[in-house]
Amino acid sequence: MGRVALCTLAATGGLLLLAQGAYAQQVMTKDNGAAVGDNQNSQTAGPNGPTLLQDVQLVQKLQRFDRERIPERVVHATGTGAHGSFVATDDLSDLTKAKLFSRNTVTPVFVRFSTVIPSRSGTETVRDPRGFATKFYTQEGNWDLVGNNLPIFFIRDAMKFPDMIHALKPDPVTNVQEPERVFDFFSHIPESTQMLTRVYSNYGTPASYRQMNGSSVHALKLVNARGDYVYAKFAWKSQQGERNLRPQEIPLVQGKTTSHLTTDLYDAIKAGKFPKWDLTVQVLRPQDLNKFDFDPLDATKIWPGIPERKVGTMTLGRVPDNFFESTEQVAMAPGNLIPGIEASEDRMLQGRLFSYIDTQHHRLGANFQSLPINRPLVPVLNNNQDGAANISGRKGSVNYQPSRLEGALVEDPQARSSQLPLTGTTQQQRIAKTLNFRQAGDFYRALGAQDRDDLIVNLSGDLKRVKNQDTLNTMLSYFWKADADYGKRLAKAVGVDGERIARLAAALQE
Ligand code: HEM
Repeated sequence: MGRVALCTLAATGGLLLLAQGAYAQQVMTKDNGAAVGDNQNSQTAGPNGPTLLQDVQLVQKLQRFDRERIPERVVHATGTGAHGSFVATDDLSDLTKAKLFSRNTVTPVFVRFSTVIPSRSGTETVRDPRGFATKFYTQEGNWDLVGNNLPIFFIRDAMKFPDMIHALKPDPVTNVQEPERVFDFFSHIPESTQMLTRVYSNYGTPASYRQMNGSSVHALKLVNARGDYVYAKFAWKSQQGERNLRPQEIPLVQGKTTSHLTTDLYDAIKAGKFPKWDLTVQVLRPQDLNKFDFDPLDATKIWPGIPERKVGTMTLGRVPDNFFESTEQVAMAPGNLIPGIEASEDRMLQGRLFSYIDTQHHRLGANFQSLPINRPLVPVLNNNQDGAANISGRKGSVNYQPSRLEGALVEDPQARSSQLPLTGTTQQQRIAKTLNFRQAGDFYRALGAQDRDDLIVNLSGDLKRVKNQDTLNTMLSYFWKADADYGKRLAKAVGVDGERIARLAAALQE
Protein backbone atom coordinates (compact mmCIF):
# COMPACT_ATOMS: atom_id res chain seq x y z
CA MET A 1 0.00 0.00 0.00
CA GLY A 2 1.09 3.56 -0.54
CA ARG A 3 3.20 2.51 -3.50
CA VAL A 4 2.06 3.17 -7.06
CA ALA A 5 1.39 -0.39 -8.19
CA LEU A 6 0.01 0.33 -11.61
CA CYS A 7 0.29 3.45 -13.71
CA THR A 8 -1.87 4.64 -16.58
CA LEU A 9 -4.79 2.24 -16.32
CA ALA A 10 -7.09 4.09 -18.67
CA ALA A 11 -7.76 7.50 -20.09
CA THR A 12 -11.29 8.83 -19.51
CA GLY A 13 -12.35 12.31 -20.53
CA GLY A 14 -8.72 13.32 -20.93
CA LEU A 15 -7.83 12.21 -17.38
CA LEU A 16 -5.37 9.51 -16.45
CA LEU A 17 -6.69 6.96 -14.01
CA LEU A 18 -3.94 5.62 -11.79
CA ALA A 19 -4.15 2.81 -9.26
CA GLN A 20 -2.34 2.98 -5.95
CA GLY A 21 -2.51 -0.40 -4.27
CA ALA A 22 -6.18 -1.38 -4.33
CA TYR A 23 -7.51 2.16 -4.76
CA ALA A 24 -8.17 3.81 -8.13
CA GLN A 25 -6.99 7.41 -8.25
CA GLN A 26 -7.70 10.23 -10.66
CA VAL A 27 -5.64 13.18 -11.73
CA MET A 28 -6.62 16.41 -9.98
CA THR A 29 -7.75 19.26 -12.25
CA LYS A 30 -8.36 22.99 -12.06
CA ASP A 31 -11.96 24.17 -12.54
CA ASN A 32 -11.36 24.34 -16.31
CA GLY A 33 -10.56 20.63 -16.35
CA ALA A 34 -6.83 20.99 -16.95
CA ALA A 35 -4.47 18.85 -14.86
CA VAL A 36 -2.83 20.30 -11.73
CA GLY A 37 0.94 19.85 -11.64
CA ASP A 38 1.69 20.88 -8.07
CA ASN A 39 -0.94 21.29 -5.32
CA GLN A 40 1.63 21.58 -2.49
CA ASN A 41 3.88 24.56 -3.42
CA SER A 42 2.89 28.02 -4.66
CA GLN A 43 4.79 29.47 -7.63
CA THR A 44 7.31 31.99 -6.26
CA ALA A 45 9.91 34.35 -7.69
CA GLY A 46 12.93 32.27 -6.90
CA PRO A 47 13.65 30.67 -3.52
CA ASN A 48 13.09 33.88 -1.48
CA GLY A 49 10.77 36.01 -3.64
CA PRO A 50 7.00 36.73 -3.37
CA THR A 51 4.25 34.50 -4.75
CA LEU A 52 3.33 34.96 -8.42
CA LEU A 53 -0.14 36.11 -9.50
CA GLN A 54 0.16 33.79 -12.48
CA ASP A 55 -0.31 30.76 -10.15
CA VAL A 56 -3.88 30.11 -11.29
CA GLN A 57 -4.17 26.99 -9.13
CA LEU A 58 -3.36 28.92 -5.93
CA VAL A 59 -5.56 31.90 -6.85
CA GLN A 60 -8.50 29.70 -7.90
CA LYS A 61 -8.22 27.53 -4.78
CA LEU A 62 -8.36 30.60 -2.52
CA GLN A 63 -11.16 32.25 -4.53
CA ARG A 64 -13.34 29.17 -4.29
CA PHE A 65 -12.55 28.71 -0.59
CA ASP A 66 -13.49 32.36 0.07
CA ARG A 67 -16.95 31.68 -1.40
CA GLU A 68 -17.76 28.34 0.25
CA ARG A 69 -20.46 29.60 2.63
CA ILE A 70 -23.94 30.59 1.59
CA PRO A 71 -26.35 32.35 3.98
CA GLU A 72 -27.63 29.86 6.52
CA ARG A 73 -31.38 29.37 6.79
CA VAL A 74 -32.85 32.19 8.90
CA VAL A 75 -34.48 29.43 11.00
CA HIS A 76 -33.96 25.64 10.94
CA ALA A 77 -30.27 26.15 10.06
CA THR A 78 -29.06 22.86 11.59
CA GLY A 79 -30.39 19.87 9.69
CA THR A 80 -29.95 16.27 8.60
CA GLY A 81 -31.10 14.89 5.25
CA ALA A 82 -31.89 11.43 3.91
CA HIS A 83 -33.28 9.96 0.69
CA GLY A 84 -36.10 7.46 0.60
CA SER A 85 -39.43 6.57 -0.93
CA PHE A 86 -43.12 6.83 -0.15
CA VAL A 87 -45.55 4.05 -1.09
CA ALA A 88 -49.28 4.80 -1.14
CA THR A 89 -51.18 2.04 0.65
CA ASP A 90 -54.70 3.44 0.14
CA ASP A 91 -56.50 5.15 -2.71
CA LEU A 92 -57.44 8.75 -1.96
CA SER A 93 -59.08 9.52 -5.30
CA ASP A 94 -62.37 10.24 -3.45
CA LEU A 95 -60.54 13.20 -1.86
CA THR A 96 -57.76 14.25 -4.22
CA LYS A 97 -56.72 13.98 -7.84
CA ALA A 98 -53.02 13.97 -6.79
CA LYS A 99 -51.69 10.75 -8.31
CA LEU A 100 -49.14 10.07 -5.59
CA PHE A 101 -52.08 8.90 -3.48
CA SER A 102 -53.14 6.12 -5.92
CA ARG A 103 -52.58 2.76 -4.20
CA ASN A 104 -49.09 1.25 -4.74
CA THR A 105 -47.67 4.38 -6.34
CA VAL A 106 -44.01 4.75 -5.33
CA THR A 107 -42.67 8.31 -5.01
CA PRO A 108 -39.02 9.16 -4.28
CA VAL A 109 -38.59 11.54 -1.34
CA PHE A 110 -35.91 13.61 0.36
CA VAL A 111 -36.43 14.39 4.06
CA ARG A 112 -34.68 17.11 6.05
CA PHE A 113 -34.99 17.01 9.84
CA SER A 114 -33.87 20.11 11.72
CA THR A 115 -33.74 22.11 14.92
CA VAL A 116 -35.24 25.61 14.69
CA ILE A 117 -33.30 28.18 16.67
CA PRO A 118 -29.58 27.24 16.68
CA SER A 119 -27.33 28.48 13.89
CA ARG A 120 -25.77 26.04 11.41
CA SER A 121 -24.13 22.99 13.03
CA GLY A 122 -25.78 23.82 16.35
CA THR A 123 -26.20 21.32 19.18
CA GLU A 124 -28.99 18.79 18.61
CA THR A 125 -29.88 18.32 22.29
CA VAL A 126 -31.42 21.81 22.43
CA ARG A 127 -35.05 22.20 23.58
CA ASP A 128 -36.84 23.17 20.38
CA PRO A 129 -39.49 21.95 17.97
CA ARG A 130 -37.94 19.75 15.28
CA GLY A 131 -38.50 20.32 11.55
CA PHE A 132 -39.77 17.32 9.58
CA ALA A 133 -39.78 18.45 5.93
CA THR A 134 -40.40 16.07 3.04
CA LYS A 135 -39.95 16.72 -0.66
CA PHE A 136 -42.04 14.27 -2.73
CA TYR A 137 -40.70 14.05 -6.31
CA THR A 138 -44.10 13.11 -7.82
CA GLN A 139 -45.09 12.44 -11.44
CA GLU A 140 -46.92 15.78 -11.34
CA GLY A 141 -44.15 17.96 -9.92
CA ASN A 142 -42.66 18.37 -6.46
CA TRP A 143 -44.86 18.51 -3.39
CA ASP A 144 -43.20 19.66 -0.17
CA LEU A 145 -44.80 18.76 3.16
CA VAL A 146 -42.89 21.17 5.40
CA GLY A 147 -43.95 20.20 8.91
CA ASN A 148 -42.67 19.82 12.45
CA ASN A 149 -42.58 17.04 15.02
CA LEU A 150 -45.18 18.81 17.19
CA PRO A 151 -48.73 18.96 15.80
CA ILE A 152 -49.37 22.68 16.44
CA PHE A 153 -47.54 26.03 16.49
CA PHE A 154 -46.95 28.95 18.89
CA ILE A 155 -48.85 31.61 16.93
CA ARG A 156 -51.71 31.77 14.46
CA ASP A 157 -50.82 34.74 12.25
CA ALA A 158 -47.74 35.08 10.00
CA MET A 159 -47.53 38.75 11.04
CA LYS A 160 -46.09 37.65 14.40
CA PHE A 161 -43.46 35.21 13.07
CA PRO A 162 -40.44 37.53 12.71
CA ASP A 163 -41.03 38.98 16.23
CA MET A 164 -41.36 35.50 17.70
CA ILE A 165 -38.13 34.33 16.08
CA HIS A 166 -36.31 37.49 17.20
CA ALA A 167 -37.41 36.78 20.80
CA LEU A 168 -36.36 33.13 20.60
CA LYS A 169 -33.01 33.72 18.87
CA PRO A 170 -30.02 34.91 20.90
CA ASP A 171 -30.18 38.39 22.43
CA PRO A 172 -28.77 40.86 19.84
CA VAL A 173 -26.52 42.33 22.55
CA THR A 174 -25.12 39.23 24.29
CA ASN A 175 -25.73 36.61 21.53
CA VAL A 176 -27.17 34.30 24.21
CA GLN A 177 -30.76 32.99 24.27
CA GLU A 178 -32.53 34.63 27.22
CA PRO A 179 -35.72 33.30 28.88
CA GLU A 180 -36.42 36.91 29.92
CA ARG A 181 -36.92 37.93 26.27
CA VAL A 182 -38.63 34.68 25.25
CA PHE A 183 -41.29 34.89 27.97
CA ASP A 184 -41.61 38.67 27.64
CA PHE A 185 -42.82 37.98 24.10
CA PHE A 186 -44.97 34.92 24.88
CA SER A 187 -46.66 36.65 27.84
CA HIS A 188 -48.40 38.72 25.14
CA ILE A 189 -49.39 35.58 23.16
CA PRO A 190 -51.86 33.46 25.18
CA GLU A 191 -52.44 31.17 22.19
CA SER A 192 -48.86 29.91 22.64
CA THR A 193 -49.78 28.10 25.88
CA GLN A 194 -50.33 24.69 24.28
CA MET A 195 -47.18 24.84 22.13
CA LEU A 196 -45.03 26.00 25.07
CA THR A 197 -46.42 23.11 27.12
CA ARG A 198 -45.50 20.66 24.36
CA VAL A 199 -42.02 22.14 23.77
CA TYR A 200 -41.23 22.07 27.51
CA SER A 201 -42.48 18.49 27.78
CA ASN A 202 -39.96 15.82 26.81
CA TYR A 203 -41.27 16.07 23.22
CA GLY A 204 -39.04 19.16 23.00
CA THR A 205 -35.96 16.93 23.25
CA PRO A 206 -36.42 13.87 20.99
CA ALA A 207 -34.06 10.92 21.61
CA SER A 208 -33.74 10.28 17.88
CA TYR A 209 -35.21 11.42 14.58
CA ARG A 210 -36.21 7.81 13.89
CA GLN A 211 -38.37 7.80 17.02
CA MET A 212 -40.18 11.04 16.28
CA ASN A 213 -43.59 11.71 14.73
CA GLY A 214 -44.29 14.55 12.32
CA SER A 215 -47.21 16.81 11.41
CA SER A 216 -48.28 19.22 8.70
CA VAL A 217 -49.51 21.45 11.57
CA HIS A 218 -51.72 23.38 9.14
CA ALA A 219 -54.70 22.06 7.29
CA LEU A 220 -54.11 21.79 3.56
CA LYS A 221 -56.88 21.34 1.02
CA LEU A 222 -57.36 18.12 -0.93
CA VAL A 223 -59.22 18.65 -4.20
CA ASN A 224 -60.73 15.78 -6.21
CA ALA A 225 -61.32 15.50 -9.96
CA ARG A 226 -64.81 17.06 -9.58
CA GLY A 227 -63.29 20.16 -7.93
CA ASP A 228 -64.72 19.31 -4.47
CA TYR A 229 -62.35 20.04 -1.64
CA VAL A 230 -61.86 19.01 1.99
CA TYR A 231 -59.48 20.32 4.63
CA ALA A 232 -56.76 17.83 5.57
CA LYS A 233 -54.13 17.60 8.31
CA PHE A 234 -51.28 15.15 7.66
CA ALA A 235 -49.22 13.31 10.27
CA TRP A 236 -46.18 11.02 10.17
CA LYS A 237 -46.31 8.16 12.70
CA SER A 238 -42.95 6.57 13.43
CA GLN A 239 -42.99 2.77 13.10
CA GLN A 240 -40.02 2.82 15.52
CA GLY A 241 -42.30 4.32 18.22
CA GLU A 242 -41.63 7.61 20.00
CA ARG A 243 -38.82 8.25 22.47
CA ASN A 244 -37.69 11.49 24.07
CA LEU A 245 -34.85 12.52 26.36
CA ARG A 246 -35.71 13.08 30.03
CA PRO A 247 -34.19 16.18 31.69
CA GLN A 248 -31.45 14.22 33.45
CA GLU A 249 -30.45 12.45 30.18
CA ILE A 250 -29.81 15.66 28.23
CA PRO A 251 -26.45 16.63 29.81
CA LEU A 252 -25.27 13.03 29.55
CA VAL A 253 -26.01 12.85 25.82
CA GLN A 254 -24.65 16.36 25.20
CA GLY A 255 -21.48 15.51 27.13
CA LYS A 256 -20.73 12.82 24.55
CA THR A 257 -21.93 14.42 21.30
CA THR A 258 -23.74 17.48 20.01
CA SER A 259 -25.04 15.48 17.00
CA HIS A 260 -26.87 12.52 18.53
CA LEU A 261 -29.85 12.88 16.18
CA THR A 262 -27.77 12.88 12.99
CA THR A 263 -25.50 10.07 14.16
CA ASP A 264 -28.40 7.85 15.19
CA LEU A 265 -30.21 8.31 11.87
CA TYR A 266 -27.15 7.79 9.69
CA ASP A 267 -25.86 4.82 11.72
CA ALA A 268 -29.24 3.10 11.42
CA ILE A 269 -29.48 3.69 7.65
CA LYS A 270 -25.88 2.56 7.05
CA ALA A 271 -26.59 -0.61 9.09
CA GLY A 272 -29.59 -1.36 6.83
CA LYS A 273 -32.12 -0.61 9.61
CA PHE A 274 -34.21 1.67 7.44
CA PRO A 275 -36.61 3.81 9.50
CA LYS A 276 -40.27 3.97 8.42
CA TRP A 277 -43.16 6.31 9.03
CA ASP A 278 -46.86 5.88 8.20
CA LEU A 279 -48.56 8.93 6.73
CA THR A 280 -52.08 9.56 8.05
CA VAL A 281 -54.66 12.18 7.16
CA GLN A 282 -57.52 13.78 9.11
CA VAL A 283 -60.24 15.27 6.96
CA LEU A 284 -62.90 17.94 7.55
CA ARG A 285 -65.58 18.98 5.09
CA PRO A 286 -65.87 22.77 4.54
CA GLN A 287 -69.44 22.73 5.90
CA ASP A 288 -68.13 21.25 9.19
CA LEU A 289 -65.49 23.93 9.89
CA ASN A 290 -67.85 25.95 12.08
CA LYS A 291 -69.00 23.03 14.21
CA PHE A 292 -66.15 23.31 16.74
CA ASP A 293 -65.50 25.58 19.71
CA PHE A 294 -62.17 26.42 18.09
CA ASP A 295 -61.19 27.41 14.56
CA PRO A 296 -59.86 24.32 12.71
CA LEU A 297 -57.73 26.58 10.49
CA ASP A 298 -55.92 27.98 13.55
CA ALA A 299 -52.40 26.49 13.62
CA THR A 300 -52.40 26.53 17.44
CA LYS A 301 -54.99 23.74 17.53
CA ILE A 302 -55.12 19.98 17.00
CA TRP A 303 -58.31 18.32 15.72
CA PRO A 304 -59.33 16.04 18.61
CA GLY A 305 -61.64 13.14 17.75
CA ILE A 306 -61.31 13.39 13.95
CA PRO A 307 -60.37 9.91 12.63
CA GLU A 308 -56.90 9.38 11.16
CA ARG A 309 -56.77 7.47 7.88
CA LYS A 310 -53.48 5.80 6.91
CA VAL A 311 -52.50 6.72 3.34
CA GLY A 312 -49.02 5.27 2.92
CA THR A 313 -45.59 4.48 4.31
CA MET A 314 -42.24 6.24 3.90
CA THR A 315 -38.89 4.48 4.23
CA LEU A 316 -35.58 6.34 4.48
CA GLY A 317 -32.83 4.21 2.93
CA ARG A 318 -29.94 6.36 1.74
CA VAL A 319 -27.60 8.88 3.33
CA PRO A 320 -26.76 11.64 0.84
CA ASP A 321 -23.16 11.51 -0.33
CA ASN A 322 -22.75 15.28 -0.37
CA PHE A 323 -24.17 17.20 2.62
CA PHE A 324 -23.93 20.63 1.02
CA GLU A 325 -25.42 19.72 -2.37
CA SER A 326 -28.38 17.94 -0.80
CA THR A 327 -29.16 18.88 2.80
CA GLU A 328 -27.86 22.45 2.68
CA GLN A 329 -29.14 23.32 -0.79
CA VAL A 330 -32.52 21.62 -0.57
CA ALA A 331 -35.28 24.21 -0.77
CA MET A 332 -38.43 23.00 0.97
CA ALA A 333 -41.40 25.31 0.52
CA PRO A 334 -45.07 25.10 1.54
CA GLY A 335 -45.77 26.79 -1.83
CA ASN A 336 -44.51 23.73 -3.73
CA LEU A 337 -47.91 22.16 -4.31
CA ILE A 338 -49.33 19.93 -7.05
CA PRO A 339 -52.79 19.63 -8.62
CA GLY A 340 -55.11 18.11 -5.98
CA ILE A 341 -53.21 19.58 -3.00
CA GLU A 342 -53.75 23.26 -2.18
CA ALA A 343 -53.13 25.68 0.67
CA SER A 344 -55.93 26.32 3.14
CA GLU A 345 -56.81 29.79 4.43
CA ASP A 346 -54.77 29.22 7.66
CA ARG A 347 -53.17 32.66 8.22
CA MET A 348 -49.80 31.17 9.14
CA LEU A 349 -49.69 28.97 6.07
CA GLN A 350 -50.65 31.91 3.85
CA GLY A 351 -47.56 33.82 5.07
CA ARG A 352 -45.35 30.75 4.60
CA LEU A 353 -46.43 30.48 0.96
CA PHE A 354 -44.50 33.70 0.32
CA SER A 355 -41.66 33.50 2.84
CA TYR A 356 -39.89 30.26 1.91
CA ILE A 357 -39.50 30.80 -1.82
CA ASP A 358 -38.52 34.40 -1.13
CA THR A 359 -35.75 33.43 1.33
CA GLN A 360 -34.56 30.69 -1.03
CA HIS A 361 -34.05 33.24 -3.82
CA HIS A 362 -31.81 35.10 -1.36
CA ARG A 363 -30.11 32.00 0.08
CA LEU A 364 -29.52 30.04 -3.13
CA GLY A 365 -29.96 32.44 -6.07
CA ALA A 366 -32.65 32.77 -8.74
CA ASN A 367 -32.14 29.34 -10.28
CA PHE A 368 -32.24 27.21 -7.11
CA GLN A 369 -35.06 25.05 -8.46
CA SER A 370 -32.67 23.72 -11.14
CA LEU A 371 -30.25 22.27 -8.58
CA PRO A 372 -30.37 18.46 -8.72
CA ILE A 373 -31.82 18.12 -5.19
CA ASN A 374 -34.65 20.55 -6.02
CA ARG A 375 -35.27 19.69 -9.68
CA PRO A 376 -38.59 17.92 -10.32
CA LEU A 377 -38.52 14.52 -12.06
CA VAL A 378 -40.93 15.90 -14.66
CA PRO A 379 -39.84 18.52 -17.22
CA VAL A 380 -40.15 22.18 -16.18
CA LEU A 381 -41.65 24.11 -19.10
CA ASN A 382 -42.31 27.82 -18.69
CA ASN A 383 -40.96 31.22 -19.65
CA ASN A 384 -39.11 32.01 -16.43
CA GLN A 385 -35.61 32.48 -17.74
CA ASP A 386 -32.01 33.59 -17.36
CA GLY A 387 -30.57 34.93 -14.09
CA ALA A 388 -27.28 33.92 -12.46
CA ALA A 389 -26.12 30.34 -13.05
CA ASN A 390 -29.04 29.44 -15.29
CA ILE A 391 -28.94 25.87 -16.58
CA SER A 392 -32.59 25.39 -17.52
CA GLY A 393 -31.71 24.50 -21.11
CA ARG A 394 -34.90 26.02 -22.51
CA LYS A 395 -34.91 26.29 -26.28
CA GLY A 396 -36.85 28.13 -28.97
CA SER A 397 -37.91 31.67 -29.77
CA VAL A 398 -41.30 31.64 -28.06
CA ASN A 399 -40.48 32.78 -24.52
CA TYR A 400 -43.92 34.34 -23.97
CA GLN A 401 -47.43 33.04 -23.68
CA PRO A 402 -49.98 32.78 -25.28
CA SER A 403 -48.69 32.08 -28.77
CA ARG A 404 -49.76 30.12 -31.82
CA LEU A 405 -46.20 29.40 -32.97
CA GLU A 406 -44.23 26.17 -32.81
CA GLY A 407 -43.12 25.55 -29.23
CA ALA A 408 -45.99 27.45 -27.59
CA LEU A 409 -46.98 26.34 -24.09
CA VAL A 410 -50.60 25.81 -23.04
CA GLU A 411 -52.38 25.52 -19.68
CA ASP A 412 -54.02 22.39 -18.29
CA PRO A 413 -57.61 23.20 -17.17
CA GLN A 414 -57.47 20.19 -14.80
CA ALA A 415 -54.79 22.03 -12.80
CA ARG A 416 -56.94 25.10 -12.09
CA SER A 417 -57.37 26.00 -8.43
CA SER A 418 -60.52 25.14 -6.51
CA GLN A 419 -62.94 27.95 -5.82
CA LEU A 420 -63.50 29.39 -2.35
CA PRO A 421 -66.81 31.13 -1.61
CA LEU A 422 -66.26 34.52 0.07
CA THR A 423 -68.37 37.25 1.71
CA GLY A 424 -67.65 40.43 3.69
CA THR A 425 -65.05 43.15 3.58
CA THR A 426 -61.27 43.24 4.04
CA GLN A 427 -60.34 43.34 7.72
CA GLN A 428 -57.51 43.17 10.24
CA GLN A 429 -58.90 41.25 13.22
CA ARG A 430 -57.99 38.24 15.26
CA ILE A 431 -60.01 35.05 14.67
CA ALA A 432 -63.35 34.74 16.45
CA LYS A 433 -62.85 31.43 18.31
CA THR A 434 -59.50 31.68 20.10
CA LEU A 435 -59.84 28.87 22.71
CA ASN A 436 -56.34 29.71 23.90
CA PHE A 437 -55.96 27.38 26.89
CA ARG A 438 -58.21 24.33 26.80
CA GLN A 439 -56.14 22.09 24.53
CA ALA A 440 -53.02 22.87 26.61
CA GLY A 441 -54.86 21.54 29.67
CA ASP A 442 -56.03 18.45 27.75
CA PHE A 443 -52.41 17.77 26.72
CA TYR A 444 -51.14 18.23 30.29
CA ARG A 445 -53.75 15.86 31.72
CA ALA A 446 -53.03 13.24 29.04
CA LEU A 447 -49.34 13.06 30.04
CA GLY A 448 -48.29 10.26 32.40
CA ALA A 449 -47.19 11.20 35.94
CA GLN A 450 -43.47 11.03 35.12
CA ASP A 451 -43.86 13.16 31.96
CA ARG A 452 -45.81 15.74 33.98
CA ASP A 453 -43.04 15.83 36.60
CA ASP A 454 -40.45 16.32 33.82
CA LEU A 455 -42.52 19.12 32.26
CA ILE A 456 -42.59 20.99 35.59
CA VAL A 457 -38.80 20.57 35.95
CA ASN A 458 -38.10 21.69 32.36
CA LEU A 459 -40.46 24.68 32.33
CA SER A 460 -39.83 25.96 35.87
CA GLY A 461 -36.09 25.80 35.15
CA ASP A 462 -36.47 28.52 32.49
CA LEU A 463 -39.27 30.44 34.26
CA LYS A 464 -37.01 30.83 37.31
CA ARG A 465 -34.66 32.87 35.14
CA VAL A 466 -37.35 35.48 34.35
CA LYS A 467 -36.77 38.60 36.45
CA ASN A 468 -39.76 40.70 35.37
CA GLN A 469 -42.56 39.80 37.81
CA ASP A 470 -45.39 40.80 35.43
CA THR A 471 -43.99 38.55 32.72
CA LEU A 472 -43.63 35.67 35.16
CA ASN A 473 -47.09 36.07 36.70
CA THR A 474 -48.75 36.36 33.30
CA MET A 475 -47.04 33.22 32.02
CA LEU A 476 -47.99 31.32 35.19
CA SER A 477 -51.61 32.48 34.85
CA TYR A 478 -51.75 31.02 31.33
CA PHE A 479 -50.54 27.62 32.52
CA TRP A 480 -52.92 27.81 35.51
CA LYS A 481 -55.83 28.65 33.23
CA ALA A 482 -54.97 25.57 31.12
CA ASP A 483 -55.01 23.36 34.22
CA ALA A 484 -55.07 24.42 37.88
CA ASP A 485 -52.79 21.58 38.99
CA TYR A 486 -50.28 22.50 36.28
CA GLY A 487 -50.31 26.18 37.33
CA LYS A 488 -50.09 25.35 41.07
CA ARG A 489 -47.09 23.09 40.59
CA LEU A 490 -45.28 25.65 38.44
CA ALA A 491 -46.01 28.52 40.87
CA LYS A 492 -44.66 26.41 43.74
CA ALA A 493 -41.56 25.41 41.75
CA VAL A 494 -40.69 29.04 40.95
CA GLY A 495 -41.68 30.32 44.43
CA VAL A 496 -44.62 32.56 43.48
CA ASP A 497 -47.82 33.04 45.54
CA GLY A 498 -50.42 30.68 44.02
CA GLU A 499 -53.46 32.68 45.20
CA ARG A 500 -52.37 35.65 43.13
CA ILE A 501 -51.86 33.49 40.01
CA ALA A 502 -55.26 31.84 40.56
CA ARG A 503 -56.90 35.29 40.54
CA LEU A 504 -55.08 36.29 37.33
CA ALA A 505 -56.08 33.00 35.69
CA ALA A 506 -59.72 33.45 36.69
CA ALA A 507 -59.79 36.79 34.86
CA LEU A 508 -58.60 35.23 31.58
CA GLN A 509 -61.00 34.49 28.72
CA GLU A 510 -60.61 31.38 26.58
C1 HEM B 1 -45.54 32.42 9.18
C2 HEM B 1 -44.85 31.46 9.79
C3 HEM B 1 -43.53 30.97 9.29
C4 HEM B 1 -42.59 31.58 8.53
C5 HEM B 1 -42.63 33.00 7.97
C6 HEM B 1 -41.52 30.64 8.34
C7 HEM B 1 -40.34 30.91 7.64
C8 HEM B 1 -39.34 30.01 7.42
C9 HEM B 1 -38.15 30.28 6.68
C10 HEM B 1 -37.82 31.63 6.07
C11 HEM B 1 -37.42 29.15 6.63
C12 HEM B 1 -36.08 28.94 5.94
C13 HEM B 1 -36.32 28.27 4.61
C14 HEM B 1 -35.08 28.10 3.80
O1 HEM B 1 -34.14 28.88 3.96
O2 HEM B 1 -35.05 27.17 2.96
C15 HEM B 1 -38.16 28.15 7.33
C16 HEM B 1 -37.75 26.85 7.48
C17 HEM B 1 -38.56 25.87 7.99
N1 HEM B 1 -39.81 26.03 8.58
FE1 HEM B 1 -40.79 27.73 8.79
N2 HEM B 1 -41.82 29.48 8.96
C18 HEM B 1 -43.05 29.63 9.55
C19 HEM B 1 -43.73 28.70 10.28
C20 HEM B 1 -43.45 27.37 10.28
C21 HEM B 1 -44.31 26.33 10.76
C22 HEM B 1 -45.72 26.55 11.32
C23 HEM B 1 -43.67 25.15 10.55
C24 HEM B 1 -44.17 23.77 10.81
C25 HEM B 1 -45.35 23.39 10.35
C26 HEM B 1 -42.39 25.45 9.94
C27 HEM B 1 -41.46 24.52 9.56
C28 HEM B 1 -40.28 24.79 8.94
C29 HEM B 1 -39.30 23.79 8.58
C30 HEM B 1 -39.42 22.29 8.80
C31 HEM B 1 -38.23 24.47 7.99
C32 HEM B 1 -36.93 23.84 7.47
C33 HEM B 1 -37.11 23.35 6.05
C34 HEM B 1 -35.86 22.63 5.60
O3 HEM B 1 -35.54 21.59 6.21
O4 HEM B 1 -35.19 23.12 4.70
N3 HEM B 1 -42.29 26.80 9.80
N4 HEM B 1 -39.32 28.69 7.83
